[in-house]
Amino acid sequence: MKIRKPTEENRAKVYALLRRAFPRGEYESCLVQAFHEHGTPIHEWVCIHTGRVIAYIAFSNAYHGDAVCGLHLGPMAVMHEFRKQGIGSELLRFALRQEPIKNQPLFVLGEPRFFKRFGFEPCKAPICPFDKNNAHFLSLRNDAAGNFMVGYEAEFRSAGKPPLLKGRR
Ligand SMILES: CC(C)(COP(=O)(O)OP(=O)(O)OC[C@H]1O[C@@H](n2cnc3c(N)ncnc32)[C@H](O)[C@@H]1OP(=O)(O)O)[C@@H](O)C(=O)NCCC(=O)NCCS
Repeated sequence: MKIRKPTEENRAKVYALLRRAFPRGEYESCLVQAFHEHGTPIHEWVCIHTGRVIAYIAFSNAYHGDAVCGLHLGPMAVMHEFRKQGIGSELLRFALRQEPIKNQPLFVLGEPRFFKRFGFEPCKAPICPFDKNNAHFLSLRNDAAGNFMVGYEAEFRSAGKPPLLKGRR
């Protein structure tokens, strides 16, 4: 298995992976496609195995007002038949060591039982606009003071309505 930056040629495979990994809708694949089409600054990696894209991870800017205050992790997905084999953990650990990621405050809207393994903790502040009571909102290296609402890239809204986390797997 190799971890690489995605190329323009394998973008279609990334969208297909996201459509299958998040079966409740096309939100995540539309989101990443919009990032690519708009040239939005993101950090992203894929796992390639026998020519297939079997996992994907992306990070995009998090905002406090107009200022960047860290990165949002997501979407992240592993192809169904490759889950529970350590691939998601390996990809995430790899990403967390990379230069643009390793010193940044990170935020993720995800399953606490998975992300806590990597040092993410429940995030009280800032507030996530997509998650009632920040129940699934976690952070790492976050020392934000004050109860502001964290900002996302515009594509998070234009890609459609974010699906509820419950029952996503
Ligand atoms: C979350 C995901 C990326 C994990 O990938 P993976 O390759 O299966 O992860 P790993 O094999 O490294 O780790 C699996 C472990 O995490 C746990 N885990 C994974 N997703 C979980 C979830 N939603 N809730 C609780 N535990 C979870 C598994 O139970 C497993 O535990 P074990 O090691 O005790 O058996 C994958 O399940 C996936 O693509 N899910 C759908 C998309 C998604 O929810 N993405 C995250 C939010 S953006």
